[in-house]
Amino acid sequence: MAVTLTINGQSIQATWDRSLFDYAEELGIDVPTSCRKQGKCKECMVEVVEGMNALSAMTEPERHLSGNFRLSCQTHVTAEDGHVRCHTMRRGQMRIERHAFGLPVGNHMLQLDPAVTREGDGIMIDGVEVERSAGPILGIAVDLGTTTVVMRLLDLESGELIADTSFENPQRFGGSEVMSRIAYDTEHHGKLLMRTLAGYMRRAIEKFPVDPKTIYEMVVVGNSTMRDLFFRQSVYSIGQNPYQSITEIELTEGKRATTSLIQTGLRSLLPIHPKARVYGAPIISGHVGADAAACMLAVDLAQEERLVAIMDIGTNTELIVGNKDRILAASCPAGPAFEGGAIACGMPALDGAIESVAIDESGSIRLGAIGDLPPEGICGSGLVDALSELLRTGRMNAMGRFDDEAHRVTLHYGETPDEAVFLLESDVNELAQAKGANVAGLHVVFSTYGIDFDDIEVFYLAGGFGRHLDVEASKRIGLIPNLASSKIVQAGNMAIEGATIALLSKSKRNELEELVKTVQHCRLETHPSFFDFFVEGCQFKPVEPVACTT
Ligand code: FES
Repeated sequence: MAVTLTINGQSIQATWDRSLFDYAEELGIDVPTSCRKQGKCKECMVEVVEGMNALSAMTEPERHLSGNFRLSCQTHVTAEDGHVRCHTMRRGQMRIERHAFGLPVGNHMLQLDPAVTREGDGIMIDGVEVERSAGPILGIAVDLGTTTVVMRLLDLESGELIADTSFENPQRFGGSEVMSRIAYDTEHHGKLLMRTLAGYMRRAIEKFPVDPKTIYEMVVVGNSTMRDLFFRQSVYSIGQNPYQSITEIELTEGKRATTSLIQTGLRSLLPIHPKARVYGAPIISGHVGADAAACMLAVDLAQEERLVAIMDIGTNTELIVGNKDRILAASCPAGPAFEGGAIACGMPALDGAIESVAIDESGSIRLGAIGDLPPEGICGSGLVDALSELLRTGRMNAMGRFDDEAHRVTLHYGETPDEAVFLLESDVNELAQAKGANVAGLHVVFSTYGIDFDDIEVFYLAGGFGRHLDVEASKRIGLIPNLASSKIVQAGNMAIEGATIALLSKSKRNELEELVKTVQHCRLETHPSFFDFFVEGCQFKPVEPVACTT
């Protein structure tokens, strides 16, 4: 007898004498490693989704792992039969948004003004020679997301995009959201989160079709926790009220002039030029990070005369409202529900996730899944559609209660009872609370600014989730304000766009440094109407303006 081992969807019969890593190699699956199965690099991680009990006991090199994560080089099948299913950290298969759309500034319109320049044979960073070479001068823009990492390789002399890549953030073994990563980093010594991520980034860089030593600058954006972890800063204070990055605290104490961070290529553990500059863009606050700052650059907010809003809906929704004269920002602790977390049949936006739901007049339900595969669960955009359709057809009321007291709605995609996913009223509750936090954020920021939703001329939805939302469904359930659809731009990955601009233009980078200092951070929980806004926002109905409170 042997166990059926399925890795990344490919199956093989497995016995105890070989590791999961060995079987992955036999299947032709590329497992990250830089220690060749010695248990040292911690890069060969897999997530086990079925058959954890059929595997050998955890080993010493796996002490840092929890949940269903294992090091594939240390793990063997021990059962006599059964099924083990696991996957490496995903590349490509996950729907990662690498591009931005509908923004006012494209790279092609940008005046190239990089910090790295050529003088004869000398390659200079801000006028200081770091190398003598006639080779290319390259740079990398990075968006370090909690879930995904996106990297762009650019020629700094021509502005040309040479390559890009993306992968799932391997720090997931330390938890799926920032608060767990902060707890993990605080409790474990050795900067394991940073080292694991650096290992994955190093591999990504080595796969680029260039000599990594010709990469002289890197601009890193990301939420404050991801950025600070990468720069080996303590993130403990971001997890404690008043939720500030150590760089913010030091700025207030006069110990530094900016919240941006700089280190060398050597210290970053990446194979780029050792004297390369790695620049972490400035943050706005502990929970409105360098990714949000980069979004401001992507929409050219420093020059913008119109009133615009940027909303990046996620576990922690970031919200920016304003123009060149005044900018307000807030973060809304929405939780993972709209990313499929804490939902019975929820899943991330991977192949097989239901992403669209429509109910026709006869009541029959049509489901669309990513990759046209048999559905395995429902992702955020599918949940928004499902709620909107249930509301539209009267099967759910504005309070999130179902009409037949069944306390669950079944979405069939096949003939047999098993071929279905279901939504529970408790799931709807989770989604209501996530929405409530976002709506409260919108009301607090707009009322503090002294404007109505209708005053906004462009409403940018940033990020992968915002890119794939159905706008009408989102307005119907009150996830976004009830604005004219012509004002709404589903802009995709604005953060990587902003990082690219900061990499190609030193003057834009300096502009960003100045701009973040002008942003007024709204702390939602201190607003007197926060709780009322939250309760109102938990209802499934369009979000209309409320009276201004300034
Ligand atoms: S291959 Fe390095 S820890 Fe497994």
